[in-house]
Amino acid sequence: MNQTTKYANYIPMRELNTVDKQLYPFDAYNELLEQTPVRYDENRKCWDVFRYEDVQYVLKNPKLFSSQRNRSNQSLLYMDPPKHKQLRDLVNQAFTPKKIEQLAPHIREIAEDLLDPHLANGRIDLVHELAGPLPVIVIAELIGVPTTDRHTFKHLSDLLVKGARDDSEEAFQELMDEKAQAHEELEQYFTNIVNERRQALQDDLVSLLIEAEIEGQKLSDLEIVRFCILLLVAGNETTTNLITNAVRILCEQPELQQRIAGQPTLIPTTVEETLRYYPPIVAIGRVASEDVVLQGQTIQAGQQVISWVGAANRDERKFAQSEQFVPDRKPNQHMGFGFGIHFCLGAPLARLEGRIVLETLLAKMRNMKLEAGAELQPIQSAFVFGVREYPLGFDAI
Ligand code: HEM
Repeated sequence: MNQTTKYANYIPMRELNTVDKQLYPFDAYNELLEQTPVRYDENRKCWDVFRYEDVQYVLKNPKLFSSQRNRSNQSLLYMDPPKHKQLRDLVNQAFTPKKIEQLAPHIREIAEDLLDPHLANGRIDLVHELAGPLPVIVIAELIGVPTTDRHTFKHLSDLLVKGARDDSEEAFQELMDEKAQAHEELEQYFTNIVNERRQALQDDLVSLLIEAEIEGQKLSDLEIVRFCILLLVAGNETTTNLITNAVRILCEQPELQQRIAGQPTLIPTTVEETLRYYPPIVAIGRVASEDVVLQGQTIQAGQQVISWVGAANRDERKFAQSEQFVPDRKPNQHMGFGFGIHFCLGAPLARLEGRIVLETLLAKMRNMKLEAGAELQPIQSAFVFGVREYPLGFDAI
């Protein structure tokens, strides 16, 4: 991997150099968006794009801005057309919104099982006891792996998205080794599951992927294994942060919390507004395939381009009162799930989980708040927006 890829992916922008700014990067984004809407960062060796219109342009032009920025990872996320479309159409057959909607009652059960033991205590460690485990259990069950393995999964999938502890060469190498190891373990694990399902199909995602077919084309074992790993990487921490970020905003704005508790029909649009206002993924990477001029700047072929959806989502040119959290904002064309051909495949599942968790919380408790004395710590990652822990106090009803 060359220097360019390394820095763009793992080192935060120097503008986000304090904990306060990492916990609320949006003022910094806003300044960048106004002053240097498209700029080259020498430090990270990449271009940064901040405005809504420009971010959208990058994401909707896969010919100019390729997703093949990580050649060692051959998942859907890093593919370009036409290979991307072939694979996406195949996996789509097993991952339809209708199939996802059927999971609703079960997701509610999981949410209640995780939450109920804490109700009498009036507190819960939101990240570790609810928002973290829930998506892992849901994905593990969907794929068809035993729930008993979920701690291993959580651990391995967290490793795959982890950032380096500092920006030294050693820390970077250590991280790369850990990730490679986790990837290998997961590959072995899923290969066993695929082999088992080939012997006897079951009612699960792996079995559907084995059967999926378009014009005689089927998925290879390795493609199925890689797709399963991608679901863990792409779906777990992101959904954990969606849930935590949503609860965080409700605690930061008690009037908002009261309003939504009194009008639960607002929950789906509250989830959407969370994806705009506190998006779990704030930046999306691409690499220029040819020289492109954007806002008068020439991006050269081969250079990394980081699209700041976290900034674009607050662009006043697109969203009126962009700094306000408007729970019933409509339309709300945020880019929290990306845009274009790589638009999040798991969006229906993430929305469903977000909605069900908020419904469950607001039905069972009032006055949610961050526990007194708790200090939020940002997740150390250049692309992820979330906190490591959220000790939540409440009155059970
Ligand atoms: C792609 C965000 C949950 C599976 C993406 C992309 C974003 C995103 C921004 C586009 C990346 C790019 O353009 O390079 C999120 C957020 C989530 C979430 C914020 C939670 C709130 C999930 C879940 C799953 C999932 C639950 C699956 C279980 C995927 C997959 C892709 C993807 C497979 C790749 C699609 C492609 O390359 O065609 N996600 N995601 N995501 N997401 Fe999600």
